[in-house]
Amino acid sequence: MSKKALFQHITSRLFSSSKSQFNVKSRLNPVKNIYQSSKFLILEENDKKSYKYPLVWLRDNCQCVHCFHQGSSSRTINWEKFSVNQELTAIERCEESKKVTLTWADGHKSIFDDNWLLSRNFSPENQKTYLSTHYRPDKNPVWGKNDFQKILKKFDYSEVISTDRGLFEWLETLSRRGIAILQNTPLTRDECRKLANRVGFIRKTHYGEEFEVIAKEGTSNVAYLSSALQLHTDLPYYDYKPGVNLLHCLVQSQSEGGFNQITDGFFVAQKMKEDFPAYFKVLSETLVNWSDIGQEDGNKFHSIYRAPVIMLDHEGKFARINHSVPQRDSFFTVNVDDVELWYQAMKKFVDILHDETVVFKTQPGEILTFDNIRLIHGRTEYKDNTNNTRHIIGSYLDWDEIYSRLRVLRSSLQC
Ligand code: OGA
Ligand code: ZN
Ligand code: ZN
Repeated sequence: MSKKALFQHITSRLFSSSKSQFNVKSRLNPVKNIYQSSKFLILEENDKKSYKYPLVWLRDNCQCVHCFHQGSSSRTINWEKFSVNQELTAIERCEESKKVTLTWADGHKSIFDDNWLLSRNFSPENQKTYLSTHYRPDKNPVWGKNDFQKILKKFDYSEVISTDRGLFEWLETLSRRGIAILQNTPLTRDECRKLANRVGFIRKTHYGEEFEVIAKEGTSNVAYLSSALQLHTDLPYYDYKPGVNLLHCLVQSQSEGGFNQITDGFFVAQKMKEDFPAYFKVLSETLVNWSDIGQEDGNKFHSIYRAPVIMLDHEGKFARINHSVPQRDSFFTVNVDDVELWYQAMKKFVDILHDETVVFKTQPGEILTFDNIRLIHGRTEYKDNTNNTRHIIGSYLDWDEIYSRLRVLRSSLQC
């Protein structure tokens, strides 16, 4: 049954604050009318836009001190006793305080700020804005070789370390484009750690917290040879693989080689989807066994993770790329008759990947930062000897920490 409650003006009343620390940008639109229709509260904005709020959602999100703990921005309502069948007995709105009071059938009262409600409206446009800014910046544009000079941005290391605006600009660019270079970094060993601490904390793996890419004798990792490092993503054998690579160049090889190679894996996946849909399907559905076996500092490890080369999310969008020739296990636990087709699809993927790869050489003082979930990288062979060395310090960051820092900065910088 639909019923319309009269729009009421109430002048004075005590209201508990319902502002949470990370409210999406506040809107100052007035509310013209508010009423119930079926199992929804309807809120009309002046400009004739109206929004529906499910009653059960409103009751679940009551902001009173019994149902919500302001200090921790956390719901504390007792769900053991929660009823999903909620009825309203009164709807009141105070024009002066811009608050809405709902009275429920059991007598409980919930008070909401207009802006709290408006910023959480369920319209597709509002949700799109929320998802592409507050949740995670859109990963676009995807870019091919020809777009690289346009999308590559460089940032000053000390700006990033010492100003919030610098930190925000770098992380936002890294998030959208998947790559950014920091310049004028001191040539000292712990700058990646300082950078990681600026964002959150360093991501540890079984290779430790920081790794040195320098030609090493008797290594347990192909990265520590001076031979070419085929295009790859790092650590695909982790379910929670590191999100972002930080590669700080301390010394660059003066030999012909030692070039960085980078490709946008989402661009390659997009091309596969458009031009070779059958191969795309194979690469996005076939589970590959990624693995790494070895030891570091005396600790043995054996990691395995099964995942497709092109991972999709629940909406069919590109979620993650996995590719590493050395770290692809010879155990291939798929139907034996599907193996041949997978190889053909993979070969096509690698052909496009190489066509779209950009090549450059970072200089001492530069930190190459890139998305390890999306981009595929490599390094060309170089000649290493006592007069001509190459020395890179690497470490990782996780996207959860980056997105968190971005939200905090967006709120404090009001952008
Ligand atoms: C790695 C790597 C890049 C480089 O160690 O995984 O990609 O430039 N190194 O040496
Ligand atoms: Zn409550
Ligand atoms: Zn790598």
